[in-house]
Amino acid sequence: MNDFVFQSPTRFVFGRGYADRVGTEVAALGARRILLVYGGGSVVRTGLLDRVKGSLGAAGAAYVELAGVRPNPELELVRHGIELARDERVDLVLAVGGGSAIDCSKAIAFGTPYQGDVWDFFSGKARVSECLPVACVLTIPAAGSEASASCVISNDALHLKSGTSGDAFRPRLAVMDPELTFTLPPYQTAAGVTDIVCHICERFFSSAGPVPVTDNIACGIIRAVMDAATTVAQRPDDYDARATIMWAGTLAHNDLCGCGRSSVPESRAGGWESHSLEHEISAHHPEVTHGAGLAVILPAWMRHVWHANPTRFLAFAQGVLDVEPVDETDEATEDAVTYTIDELQRFFVGLGMPQTLTDLGRTPSDVDAWLETLRLNKGERFGEFMPLTMDDARAIYRSAF
Ligand code: NZQ
Ligand code: ZN
Repeated sequence: MNDFVFQSPTRFVFGRGYADRVGTEVAALGARRILLVYGGGSVVRTGLLDRVKGSLGAAGAAYVELAGVRPNPELELVRHGIELARDERVDLVLAVGGGSAIDCSKAIAFGTPYQGDVWDFFSGKARVSECLPVACVLTIPAAGSEASASCVISNDALHLKSGTSGDAFRPRLAVMDPELTFTLPPYQTAAGVTDIVCHICERFFSSAGPVPVTDNIACGIIRAVMDAATTVAQRPDDYDARATIMWAGTLAHNDLCGCGRSSVPESRAGGWESHSLEHEISAHHPEVTHGAGLAVILPAWMRHVWHANPTRFLAFAQGVLDVEPVDETDEATEDAVTYTIDELQRFFVGLGMPQTLTDLGRTPSDVDAWLETLRLNKGERFGEFMPLTMDDARAIYRSAF
């Protein structure tokens, strides 16, 4: 087991009807003037926004609003939010929504006390040290931003989607009410589930050897999510299945599933190859849902790299799908690994996710532009399980049409 530092400082308030507790919870953090950040309208339609405002009002907290965060949140709205936060002297940023609203909130929270332009944190010019506190009422289990040390923002002018990381902006509070997810369209539920599975896979397929405690947690969470997703596809208002997916989404990305698997103790485990490849697609085509892109890219990446460490893939096969141990003769191993990747892809597609990049409306002529920004974001070689060159990246993209 490699050395690690694990910090998950978020207070999780999880249960039926708990959205109404947000006022007292943020007041307990000492917040009095809040920037309320939300997306394109789902929280208005479901009545959640009114509940949150009522709860804040009852707790004596004042708020200003920033609406209209789009999926794959964009830099200009972050800049606008920073001005608003400064003008209104807010002391906490509260996201009501999913990863997009939360990431927009995080960027506002660390952009507000910073003198320069907030993109500096995403271009690598600056690192976050100071930050307003961030809280959230989560409405979609997917990105895991409610507890993660990551923030991902799109810069449409540069066709870039870039992330920054830092424990300083892990949310202080996450209010998680699984009933809020009953209204999710099946496509968004499925994309969320795919993202959750992928967050675990990125860490599972790091270069470390077996770490039994972490590996068992990882495989156990994936199994629970796969079962619950199948239930939710039949019964969207099954509370326990929704709750399972919601909590799994948090544990998939708060770094629990990476303990002991990182080659650098204070860094996230894994090479994040599938995420790097997907982010270029949703950067150039913001209409592509992150999880849907991953449903295509993760299996394509797996098929390209499994030869680099078949033993690790066999451990995944056994831990997630109960595939019988095989003699590691070439043929048996290849059969077991291929079966496992096929099953994972069948699971995603069965939930309504795309199988190919063509299904996402893309064409092979898009690939060169993705490679150009991938090179800017990642350099000539990236990844860890099997370091990828730009030729590898091209081959993976092409294999996914
Ligand atoms: O915008 P509204 O109207 O609210 O609709 C949203 C949006 O269209 C809708 N939705 C959310 N909750 C709903 C609902 N509709 C009905 N009922 C509800 N309860 O779902 C759509 C997707 O929402 P979004 O917040 O975009 O989803 P997600 O949580 O998947 O976030 C995606 C973003 O997070 C980034 C992704 O790249 C993408 O930009 N990620 C952030 C990470 C992090 N910060 O740690 C890690 C991830 O790997 C990921 O990269
Ligand atoms: Zn993700």
